Amino acid sequence: MSFVAAERQGAVEIITINRPEALNALNADVLGDLKAAFEAVDQQAVRCVIVTGAGSKSFVAGADIAAMSTMTQAEAEAFGKLGNDIFRMIETFPLPVIAAVNGFALGGGCELSMCCDFRICSENAMFGQPEVGLGITPGFGGTQRLARLVGPGMAKQLIYTARNIKAEEALRIGLVNAVYPAEELMPAALKIAAGIAKNAPIAVRHCKQAINEGLETGMDQAVVIEEKLFGKCFETHDQKEGMGAFLEKRKEKNFTNC
Ligand code: CAA
Repeated sequence: MSFVAAERQGAVEIITINRPEALNALNADVLGDLKAAFEAVDQQAVRCVIVTGAGSKSFVAGADIAAMSTMTQAEAEAFGKLGNDIFRMIETFPLPVIAAVNGFALGGGCELSMCCDFRICSENAMFGQPEVGLGITPGFGGTQRLARLVGPGMAKQLIYTARNIKAEEALRIGLVNAVYPAEELMPAALKIAAGIAKNAPIAVRHCKQAINEGLETGMDQAVVIEEKLFGKCFETHDQKEGMGAFLEKRKEKNFTNC
């Protein structure tokens, strides 16, 4: 897996796009390695995944323009599907995924960050969908997820103008949850991941599923999705442990992921 590095720190898996000489641009090989890295995550032991980019300059500067420049219509459609399938796998991955955006998140990089559960970034981060300036549309979910995250009006303006925005503007429009000095980004991501990891893992997974699936349907159906997952928690050891700890006034909880 030369283009993607994976490292476990306790219950947290850090997945790093590692092609700094091209600002971590995504070609088919990088995408394949990213998929393999997610498939290799130990879903029993790991509680949260962090995705970031190698180097101090770029999260991911987009899909690989050189690789795309000679594609035919059919090849481009297949490349779009490759990216979309992997990003959808990340979006529906059973564990929470945090994007720690450490620089450029342009085109496919912005799209990668948006398939994660939420984004935090460094002060030097820059977001944007520059595709129309290259004569193409966003191809890895940008037209869909940006509109869902920041609203259709803001998404359309950003996409039609191909204007890149800095971290503070990304924060203002709700694309990122928080901005940190560069050296504090990974410690912050790890702290958030640790905060997630101390909670009941099955409950966290069910929350992700309920939010994701609920947003894709109407409210009547969405609340049914929530009810089912809420009910399923009551079959778990961790529900008994969590509520038992409260009733016994115990601070320590022994969540076992079952
Ligand atoms: N694809 C391929 N190579 C890329 C790349 C990309 N998206 N982004 C950067 N690189 C390469 C550059 O070609 C350069 O390689 P060489 O040293 O071999 O020339 C290297 O990374 C460093 O880049 P720069 O010299 O350009 O660095 P910079 O600091 O001057 O500029 C930048 C940084 C503003 C991010 C600039 O590199 C840039 O504009 N990159 C392209 C951003 C972009 O348009 N992304 C969208 C791609 S389309 C897409 O993603 C479609 C989709 O939705 C699927």
